[in-house]
Parts: sequence; C-alpha cells; structure tokens
Amino acid sequence: MTTRVLHVDRDRPDPAVIEAAAQALRAGQLVVFPTETVYGLGAHALDPAAVQKIFEAKERPANDPLIVHIAHIGQVNQCAAGMPPRARKLGLSFWAGPLTMILPKRPEVPDLVTAGLPSVAVRVPSHRVARALMEMAGVPVAAPSANRFSRPSPTTAQHVLEDLDGRVDLILDGGPTDIGLESTIVDFTVDPPVIRRPGGITIEQVRALVPDVTLAEGLATGDQPQVAPGQLLRHYAPVAEMTLYEGEPSAVVPRLAADARTAVARGNVIGILAPEEDLIALAPLIAPSAAAGKIVVQPFGSRADLERAGRELFASIRTLDATGVSAILASSPGTEGLGRAIRDRLMRAANGRFRTIV
Ligand code: TXA
Ligand code: MG
Repeated sequence: MTTRVLHVDRDRPDPAVIEAAAQALRAGQLVVFPTETVYGLGAHALDPAAVQKIFEAKERPANDPLIVHIAHIGQVNQCAAGMPPRARKLGLSFWAGPLTMILPKRPEVPDLVTAGLPSVAVRVPSHRVARALMEMAGVPVAAPSANRFSRPSPTTAQHVLEDLDGRVDLILDGGPTDIGLESTIVDFTVDPPVIRRPGGITIEQVRALVPDVTLAEGLATGDQPQVAPGQLLRHYAPVAEMTLYEGEPSAVVPRLAADARTAVARGNVIGILAPEEDLIALAPLIAPSAAAGKIVVQPFGSRADLERAGRELFASIRTLDATGVSAILASSPGTEGLGRAIRDRLMRAANGRFRTIV
C-alpha cells in the first residue's frame, strides 16, 4: 500500500483535507492524525475489520486494548455504558485534553478494541485536527499511538513514516505535537478509581477533583510501572540497552559520568540522555570522551521546564538511538508534576532497568 501524506494547518485545518480523511476512516481505512499528546493510528472503532488492521500495521499483540476517541463528551454513550459522577466531573474539567477514562463498555464496541475486557478506554483529544476529524467522521475512532509496537511514540509525522510507511493509508501531518507524552489513564471501573498511566494531566490535577484516586501499584511504590491489562513493560524501547539513574542530581551526575567513562574504556560508544541541568554538570566530567565521539550527549528539556522535557523526550530517544550507541545512560527528572509521566516513559524505555544512586 502507498501511504499518502497530507499537510494540515494545526490551527485552521482545511475542511477538504479533513473530509478526505474522514471518508477514508468511514471506509475502513487507516488514518494517522496528530493529537495534542502523540500521533494516533486511527480506524473506525465500530468496524472490526478496520480495527484488525491497526494491530497488523503496528504488529501489536491483540491483548493490548485500544483507546476510543470521540469529538466531545456528549458522544461518550456511543461507546461507554455509563459514566460515574466523578468521571463526569473529570471529563467536564479536562476534556478536551490529555485524559483517558476507562468506563464500562457498550456491547456495540467490538471485543477487538477492548481485548475482550468489559471496559472501554475513552478520550476526547483537544487538537483541532483530531477534533475536526472525529466530528466529520461521525464515528468513534480507535487509535493507539502511531508507532511500530515497542518503538517510542511518534511526536512528528516523520516518526510515523519511519515506523509505518506503506502500512497505513493516510497520514495527516500537523507538525510536532504539543505535549509529547500520552494521555493520563484513569480507571473508573474500580472504586476508588485508579490512575493506570501517568500522562499529560498530572496526578495532582486529578487528585484535586477526585481526592480518593489511587495510583496503580508500581507507580505508587516508585518501582517499575505497573503493567496495565495487556500492556507490556518493554515499551518505547530503543535498540540500545538503556539504564535509568535516579537520585539527587549531585549524586547521579558523577556516578553516571564514571560509568560512562568505564564503558568507553571497554571500547563502547555510550549515549547519555539527561535534562540540561545535568548536562551542564556532566560536561567537564566527560569532556575528553565526548570530544572523541565516544560519548554522545542528548538533552531532553530541563528540570526547570518539564513541559518542554515531555515534549522532547520521545524525539530525543529516537535521535540518540539512531546514532548507533551501544548503551544509553539516562537521568530522570524526578516525580513532581509531569516528571512522573516522564519517569514512567524512561522506565519503560529502560525495560525496568534502573539504579538508585545515594
Ligand atoms: O495520548 C494517548 O493516549 C495516545 C493518543 C493517540 O490518543 N494514545 C495512546 O494509545 O497512547 P496506546 O494504545 O498507545 O495506549 C493505550 C493504553 C494501552 O496500552 C492499554 O494498556 C490501555 O491504554 N487501555 C486501553 N483500554 C483499556 C481498558 N479497557 N482497560 C485498561 N487499560 C486499557
Ligand atoms: Mg502506545
């Protein structure tokens, strides 16, 4: 199949382009579109044959359920059988936006979408292109992130092409995405509700409206992220083996530099993925190896601006991986605010391999 790429203005999408994409969706084709979080790989959610194509294009295991996207909260009953009052409260505040809620599913939603679960994940994206597409399509749209399974989520159309060229019918290119981290997933099929994945809406923001919300086990203990139904830990994985360093920057930086120098002395080329503050402190400790090209340094935003860190994270992982380094040492920006979602993604990229430095 030939993949068509159409450019769209992110603020004022051309209705003719959106209509073409909406028609393709209704006809059961795969359409990639930008959202405020990451690019989504969309198909008509109520058409099992179309949904099946998503799993094939991504090489995604069928036990990993999909998020259903709708144009506004008024359409939630197209796929969910009900919305508890607290879910409604959250939806009224954070939709449209980077929030996904797990709700009891309606029988019309194919089992393929929910991996046979009695619940369905629903989200109203705020990106103008995504919303215009949902509105014109007039059908709910199942869409996982538009990456090949276990690759970092795509934040540009170029990332999508790297992974899915020839595997999807159409890509709407609306430029880089704003948030860069996937939506926060809150499960309302349990009481009290549980945050299954930290994301673009912070836990603090959810707690302000749903005070008794709890964190999925791994997230609460600070250990490996818990594996949501069907979700494998290994996710966003670079080809190079990655290790996540945690602790006070004053302790992490010298240790990370020492480990990088040791690996270089053994003949390896090492990548370092860290917030800019850490890179400033690291520079004098790794200068000769960096100058010799034995250590490749890749910033992803700063601790002072976690929104930028989130926006740059996945692109930074892709860029560093493409240099062919044999291992990546990464520094975590903590767990405050968006830091928690960033750390969760780093932990997945590291396949759970982390070192706490004291
Ligand atoms: O920001 C986002 O959420 C992006 C954009 C495209 O909307 N989408 C996204 O989808 O990240 P995906 O498929 O990469 O991640 C969705 C995750 C799945 O891994 C799955 O674990 C969880 O949502 N999920 C979906 N339905 C579920 C359900 N019924 N119960 C529990 N978890 C569910
Ligand atoms: Mg994904």
